[in-house]
Amino acid sequence: MATQSSQWNNNTAFLLAATGSAVGLGNIWGFPYKAAENGGGLFVLLYIFFVITLGFPVFMAEVFIGKKGKSNPVSSVESLAAKSNSSKKWGIVGYAGILASLIIAGYYAVIAGFVIDYGFISAQGVAEGTAKDIWANQQSTFFDMTFWTVLFIVGSCYVVANGIDAGIDKAMRFLLPMLFILVLAMVGYGAYQGDFNAGINYLFSWKADDIETTGQAAAIVQAAIGQAFFSLSIGMGTLMAFGSYMPSSQKVSKASGVVVTADTGVALLAGLAIFPLAFGLGLDPKEDAFGGSALVFETMPEAFAQLGVIGQVVGPLFFFLLAVAAFSSMISILEPSVAFLTQKFSMSRMKATGVILLVCISLSLVSIAGHNVWKDVSVGALDNPFEFMKYFADDFLLLLVGTGMSVFVGWRLQKVIDADTMGISSTTMMNLWVFILKWVSPIFLMTIWTLGNLQVLFEYDLLDKIINLF
Ligand code: TRP
Repeated sequence: MATQSSQWNNNTAFLLAATGSAVGLGNIWGFPYKAAENGGGLFVLLYIFFVITLGFPVFMAEVFIGKKGKSNPVSSVESLAAKSNSSKKWGIVGYAGILASLIIAGYYAVIAGFVIDYGFISAQGVAEGTAKDIWANQQSTFFDMTFWTVLFIVGSCYVVANGIDAGIDKAMRFLLPMLFILVLAMVGYGAYQGDFNAGINYLFSWKADDIETTGQAAAIVQAAIGQAFFSLSIGMGTLMAFGSYMPSSQKVSKASGVVVTADTGVALLAGLAIFPLAFGLGLDPKEDAFGGSALVFETMPEAFAQLGVIGQVVGPLFFFLLAVAAFSSMISILEPSVAFLTQKFSMSRMKATGVILLVCISLSLVSIAGHNVWKDVSVGALDNPFEFMKYFADDFLLLLVGTGMSVFVGWRLQKVIDADTMGISSTTMMNLWVFILKWVSPIFLMTIWTLGNLQVLFEYDLLDKIINLF
């Protein structure tokens, strides 16, 4: 049984791969609509706050487990557990991460499929006033959706099958610069064509009167934390896998700092690309069409339609940007499970990728059906299988795994943590990091996790009940 990972063959590979992973649909599709749904500026401020106070420390914990464990997410956790006289059961954290990664892959690919589809739709031109019908129509066709989704999955599996240097590193070297240029181009266009001041104002000003109830406040906090973790790719083994390929000379803290900064920067830039355009055309974020997928697949196409011929150029450019971002993230979503299969079951990379390809396609069919044939098949309190997969992975599993890693590193690995691997020379900083992992992040994450799940799954507003006691 081979469990040792190979290594990136250079020092920038981790930075590129982890940034490519972090910057994805979560930044460009997710962040702007969540900001719009949660009252703009306040959400953005909370998001930045949680990225720094919880996201960054837990991000480092996950990379550390990978770098020290030098293996796939499950074996890394298990071998570090053995090293620290902890139970082998900690491996569950790795397994839960892999489960989350497969479910995310199954719905992420569907959104990415829409993105490719919309690249072509917007190139052909959309007539004003028709974007809403087009969006409804695109979701109703099971076979078309399957075509775009499978195309995307096969493409990302092709890169992963080629290995970490010839596949992932090579692809990232090309995709990431393109992504940054495209984001900047979109921001530039938004500033030139749209209402830049209104955009900035909306994203960065604090409107406390938007919050009316405690339940609402808790929901905004939960959304901000969930978004911070998802956007940073925390909680399903991506960072452990990429960390395990890190050369020993690279330091966890510095490398993590670069990735976290780049990811947050791109989310804010995506907001600065989308909102000025939308405001410039008189669209209102309080309208329904701003929520969820509708922002990118309904509001933006409508905005491009109003631009006429220019929209036929800017529109495809925007969807191309989204596709590039989604592609580099999808590669990283597939890597943990492929690494797991190759190392635990001594499979060739080719064969392991083939297995994961089939799993992914099967799961994606369920989430595609959630848009049409199973649209009304609710799962628990969630509307359909697509919403269920999204919720179960993003809001349920990721925070659990994040807490697990935080507790594992903070409480069990104290003797294993070393200043050299981390690249943290100040004892104060080191103690602060461990303190956050031990206390702050588990308590905070589990509180939010409990409140959020009670609310969503059982419609029970615990916070409100507690406040009413006083
Ligand atoms: N962070 C990516 C995005 O913003 C998605 C992603 C890739 C991810 N790998 C992950 C999310 C691991 C959670 C865990 O779109």
